[in-house]
Amino acid sequence: LNYQVPRTRKEIFETLVKGLQRLEYRGYDSAGIAVDGPDKTSTDINSNTICLIKKTGKVKALDEELYKKDTLDLDAELFTHFGIAHTRWATHGEPSAVNSHPHRSDKDNEFVVIHNGIITNYKELKAYLINKGYEFESETDTEVIPKLIKYVYDNRESDNISFSKLVERVIQQLEGAFALVFKSRHFPADAVCTRRGSPLLIGVRSEHELLTENISVQYNSGHSKEGVIEKNSHNRPDCSDSINSVGDGRAVEYYFASDASAIIEHTNKVLYLEDNDIAAVTGGKLSIHRMSRQAGEDPVRAIQTLQMEMQQIMKGNFDAFMQKEIFEQPESVVNTMRGRICFDSNKVVLGGLKDHLKEIKRCRRLIMIGCGTSFYATVATRQILEELTELPVMVELASDFLDRNTPVFRDDVCFFISQSGETADTLMALHYCKNRGALTVGITNTVGSSICRETDCGVHINAGPEIGVASTKAYTSQIVSLIMFCLMMSEDRLSLQNRRTEILNGLRVLPEMIKKVLTLDEKIKTIANELYQQRSLLVMGRGFNYATCLEGALKIKEITYMHSEGILAGELKHGPLALIDKDMPVIMVIMKDSCYVKCQNALQQVTARSGRPIILCCQDDHEVIKNAYQTIELPQTVDCLQGILSIIPLQMLSFHLAVLRGYDVDCPRNLAKSVTVE
Ligand code: G6P
Repeated sequence: LNYQVPRTRKEIFETLVKGLQRLEYRGYDSAGIAVDGPDKTSTDINSNTICLIKKTGKVKALDEELYKKDTLDLDAELFTHFGIAHTRWATHGEPSAVNSHPHRSDKDNEFVVIHNGIITNYKELKAYLINKGYEFESETDTEVIPKLIKYVYDNRESDNISFSKLVERVIQQLEGAFALVFKSRHFPADAVCTRRGSPLLIGVRSEHELLTENISVQYNSGHSKEGVIEKNSHNRPDCSDSINSVGDGRAVEYYFASDASAIIEHTNKVLYLEDNDIAAVTGGKLSIHRMSRQAGEDPVRAIQTLQMEMQQIMKGNFDAFMQKEIFEQPESVVNTMRGRICFDSNKVVLGGLKDHLKEIKRCRRLIMIGCGTSFYATVATRQILEELTELPVMVELASDFLDRNTPVFRDDVCFFISQSGETADTLMALHYCKNRGALTVGITNTVGSSICRETDCGVHINAGPEIGVASTKAYTSQIVSLIMFCLMMSEDRLSLQNRRTEILNGLRVLPEMIKKVLTLDEKIKTIANELYQQRSLLVMGRGFNYATCLEGALKIKEITYMHSEGILAGELKHGPLALIDKDMPVIMVIMKDSCYVKCQNALQQVTARSGRPIILCCQDDHEVIKNAYQTIELPQTVDCLQGILSIIPLQMLSFHLAVLRGYDVDCPRNLAKSVTVE
């Protein structure tokens, strides 16, 4: 930031720590911060030292450490300041202070770096640098980056080399994925960041309106205005003279972040960096550089206004974000459908797909790709996709899809389903399909995410920010989005009109039905009380509700750490039946659809082995109720929508089990909300 009125170091800490707290939901095991010195013993406020503070555990622990640090003068007033902060989720090396970020070039902290992503050639770089006499202190891949920039700096040919030029040389050597922010004693108050494969955005807060215009990229061949923001018009004058905020009385703040939720309380004006962009703030001015312009590349980074409201990401009256998000589902599914369905004319229009509809209808097959919960949303909708599009539909876990080198052709249409839009495996599968010429469609909840930007077309599910690591409302909105897609595909099929009307009628009353399911919360809490000390929990079903079993079991293992398995009831006889006895807790999903009779058979097999099933069934289904140990009765809807209702009791159950077992519902151990590494 750059202020006419100075800020104290304490305020700067608060801004950084708040930013980290907003990202806590993504999961992490340690946190660190780097700010400008000097320490209290120095009389010169600009003595260019960098202070590094790192802690394992929660951001709160880091926060406490900052205030303990009696070497730092918390009341020091600073006009210009650039601080960096990071939460780490261990990939290389255990969670520890030394492995956490920022990483440093040397004991004097000449260069410090924070990194999201993974450097795949770090071993070679590390060996090279060790050979040159550099000493490493951590087990991380990241540490090669600060060492490498110091190496480039120490071997520079001229003293005029800019900070961003050094960074450019460094990233030329890096392989893998990264979003990086650099800070250096040699370039005090200059900030440089760059990305390749991992998300990075820049928030701009300014009283100066010119700073909220789009930013032109500068290409190294022949550029002469390093450090200047240019307007997005060739005819307008360069505004470089008028934007130096220190002298002209106007405050400018820049925020670099991997996720908009970290900065939304400061500004809603953001620009997204593209791969290999290098952004620098020098003397209060932002500029973006890259090597040379490639064909088809957009030379402008548009400043966008985010619609995210602060209150949207606050917990409100709920104990956990996950609980809030479960209870938001009557509204989030409405937001997914808003403006897209006309119930009077039975028409569904998804604006992001309509120009590609003809091409999609001509394709040879649909391939639906995702990870975790997003993958289960494809399992939940596969049958209705096949029925209404009359196309073969493959559902694929992104990692397995890539492991198999799955054949993909130009006339395939590939869907990438991802709440965050940043999951590394899904993104790599997208690159794989793009390279083979398939049409790519993104289904995401995050506007501006990598998957949104890199697909040919797509649908925003509009479920609102999802903070709890365990996905809930995004899942139901993904299902609604995919069902809207097949309704759109089948609009001109006469033979399918009755079916379409039935589904549209179901969608119309879906929010009311979800509200009814949510009233079961107390009952589910009682069931959780009976179950929370168990070691294992099986969830069984088939047909449209098989995905509910998989997703329900995932919710349970994610946040309660109990063993849980989603079992296809059709496979019961082929193994799982051996697990059944009077002690093994079993949940069965038996809804009134075409699998009803088969599910009842499975129920007989379970009760015949003294199993005591808790059954999710349709209201007043006396036949099933009489064989159940406990029941959770749900309103009945159209078969392909039933999974939206049947997952909600399992979301609530996992929540209550986790609370009873004493775990942090929103931040389960070892898991991250957005997995941006392979
Ligand atoms: C992680 C999260 C899951 C999520 C999965 C896919 O594993 O913990 O909750 O389902 O990633 O994430 P995406 O953002 O691609 O939907």
